[in-house]
Amino acid sequence: MFMPFYLIDFITRSNYKKYWEDTMKFGFFDDLNKEYVITTPKTPLPWINYLGTNDFFSLVSNTAGGYSFYKDAKLLRITRFRYNNVPMDTNGKYFYIKDGDTVWNPGWQPTKTDLDSYECRHGIGYTKWNSSKNGVKAEVLAFVPTDDTCEINRIKLTNTSSEAKDIKLFSYVEWCLWNADDDMKNFQRNFSTGEVEIVGSTIFHKTEYRERRNHYAIYSVNAPIDGFDTSRDAFLGAYHDNHDPEAVFNGACTGSEAHGWSPVAAHQINIKLNPGESKSYVFVLGYCENPEDQKWESKGVVNKAPANAMLAKYKTDEDVDKAFAKLNAYWDNLLSIYTVESNNDKVNRMVNIWNQYQCMVTFNMSRSASYFESGIGRGMGFRDSNQDLLGFVHLIPERARERIIDIASTQFENGSAYHQYQPLTKRGNSDIGSGFNDDPLWLIAGTSAYVRETGDISILKEMVPYDNDMSVATTLMEHLKRSFDFTVNNKGPHNLPLIGRADWNDCLNLNCFSEHPGESFQCFGPSEGPVAESVFIAGMFVKYGEEYAQLAELLGDTAEAERARKEIKIMYDAVLKDGWDGEWFVRAYDAYSNKIGSKECEEGKIFIESNGFCSLAGIGVKEGLAEKALDSVKKYLDCKYGVMILQPAYTVYHLELGEISSYPPGYKENAGIFCHNNPWVSIAETVIGRGDRAFEIYKKTCPAYTEEISEIHKTEPYVYCQMVAGNDAYIPGEGKNSWLTGTAAWTFCNISQYILGVYPTHKGLSVDPCVPHGFGDFKITRKFRGATYHIEVSNPSDVEKGVKELIVDGNKVDGCVIPFVDGKKEYNVKVVMG
Ligand code: GLC
Ligand code: GLC
Repeated sequence: MFMPFYLIDFITRSNYKKYWEDTMKFGFFDDLNKEYVITTPKTPLPWINYLGTNDFFSLVSNTAGGYSFYKDAKLLRITRFRYNNVPMDTNGKYFYIKDGDTVWNPGWQPTKTDLDSYECRHGIGYTKWNSSKNGVKAEVLAFVPTDDTCEINRIKLTNTSSEAKDIKLFSYVEWCLWNADDDMKNFQRNFSTGEVEIVGSTIFHKTEYRERRNHYAIYSVNAPIDGFDTSRDAFLGAYHDNHDPEAVFNGACTGSEAHGWSPVAAHQINIKLNPGESKSYVFVLGYCENPEDQKWESKGVVNKAPANAMLAKYKTDEDVDKAFAKLNAYWDNLLSIYTVESNNDKVNRMVNIWNQYQCMVTFNMSRSASYFESGIGRGMGFRDSNQDLLGFVHLIPERARERIIDIASTQFENGSAYHQYQPLTKRGNSDIGSGFNDDPLWLIAGTSAYVRETGDISILKEMVPYDNDMSVATTLMEHLKRSFDFTVNNKGPHNLPLIGRADWNDCLNLNCFSEHPGESFQCFGPSEGPVAESVFIAGMFVKYGEEYAQLAELLGDTAEAERARKEIKIMYDAVLKDGWDGEWFVRAYDAYSNKIGSKECEEGKIFIESNGFCSLAGIGVKEGLAEKALDSVKKYLDCKYGVMILQPAYTVYHLELGEISSYPPGYKENAGIFCHNNPWVSIAETVIGRGDRAFEIYKKTCPAYTEEISEIHKTEPYVYCQMVAGNDAYIPGEGKNSWLTGTAAWTFCNISQYILGVYPTHKGLSVDPCVPHGFGDFKITRKFRGATYHIEVSNPSDVEKGVKELIVDGNKVDGCVIPFVDGKKEYNVKVVMG
């Protein structure tokens, strides 16, 4: 049911909440087809999908909004999007259907003509619409083929009425002048540079091709056209916009040729459809490059060979079917690497489809292009990319390997690292620089995950530069040693790690003292003080220090492993001595050595990060402190929609804390529910064996569960978002920043490796589930190091954790690790919990 937004004004906040507490959905999951089916265009926010697997990508919303780019969403933007516009989600790949006096779009926007039926199916790497109006049915399929730099839109129109119909179909995209940042700022130049060519049914966008570019874009259709426009103003008409283009309403394009201003591509096709008749059209939006010396066909005329070659591949419906089948096979293969069959449909759906899909999208996009990330902002984050790796390494280990080397190449010789790097140049970003003291340890996390997954220790021996300087290259293992030692060598007054500009929480800026607008919260001030310390990094050090020690052992360096473990013990003791507050772990010490996240504080008494990470690292488990800390987390940080990052929220700005206290209470890092670190607490609960609680936390932020409250939650019910508003917020439970978040990787690790319990170790897969009561028996298929594991878990006494029996191919095995046998292709594994 959809509620008109104006009605909300008449309902008080609490009534409003109560009103929507029941089921509130805008679609449903079609698990068989791996699709989310959206049944109304009026979703609370645009609900988007990603098309593309390699270099050409498109973002596409349920109302056909979005944009496309090649490799880099900032520098090679193909179509233009309007951020922050009203109505939201303005510009996309639009089809207009003119049927008599009625003009409508299969995706509803931009005309917003009421449709007789509407359905949008977001699938894995494709989106479909199925809509109808006045006896005309439109079926659109949009996807990016696996091996081409283009997006296909096939539109099939059917006359379902009993009369013959004369309709007109118009296509429309607006070109971006390549650099998306410049495109929305530099109008004095950009209004004069636009250039196009039109040949047959193909429109070529060649702005800036004359001087420095050797690439152009095309929009074409596999049928003769009855008209075109390439000037936006001619197509729309003065003082019109996408929702009422003059050319469409007049029933005829104007044949405009764009010179400067805003080039677009619009086709017109006049179609006669007898009752019951269907016709389909294949539209191709492509990116093409020419070698520098083959740019021209003749003076001023673009060499069209690459475009023609591309278009020749998508001439017919059969061509499209073939490319689409190939895309589906690509994804089916990826999604067959880890699958579960349990009694819980929601878990099956998240694990088998959506959570892994989101991990891949996050791998492709990092934090660049979403409806919350403009595509012109951040590069690749050092910590973000390492954590993303935890979620996709089993899917595409070769690309994980490349990424590890890229990331490590931006490390400094002293073990610290650039906080971000640029995906095209792969160089560290000096605007932001280094000094985020958690960064180095994430490299150990990513590398360890890769080696545990693949068994490929050769990566540890690869020569990898520092700050991209090959003359000082060392082995990757030496990089990890320097990561480890960076923490050892940078400790503060309590023997805890110095925090630098910030640790995982980018907004806890203890050395920055940013006082005036315009000063960066993170990069201002001394930034790297000798006093402020992080208990969270201490937890990371214990967890990833041990993983480092294991890598050293793998290489036969037992002395180094022993040294590492000594350092870990020292850190463990320091945490228990000065990082323990009585009922939970302290979060940090500020630049004056005052505690943060302690009962001594007025606000911000308890934080999630140190409690989650120290406990999952095993700190205080044998002393009973981890359990106490997790109980405190439940008592003070839990709310209906997840575990909040801190409590009580900061109500005033603290110069000595920075950005964290700049957010209004309940939002983002100031007491929001940061979905990214909820799984840390859930994992910690599995470490101490509390399956009920681990699963309760898992459920709270899980899209398949929050689907029920879509009206409050607002973001897509098939993917995680970064942040959900906490209890202090105006509307608790409201989600933001969907898709590109480390939440994807961490929730997948949590459910697949800790709750369902199939965890890759150096010796082989370990199976040690920790499930809620009543979860029942389940089966997992896992491909690992070239073999397929068929794992059946039974839980006859309905316990939360514990492996009573492990049987591999009929033989009993001690412990819970399935010994890896080189060359063996199939494992049949039975696990009895108890
Ligand atoms: C954002 C950043 C991530 C950071 C988190 C918490 O998600 O991408 O690096 O850890 O915020 O501040
Ligand atoms: C802001 C956000 C944080 C993000 C950071 C990235 O601080 O609150 O989540 O990590 O920007 O620069």
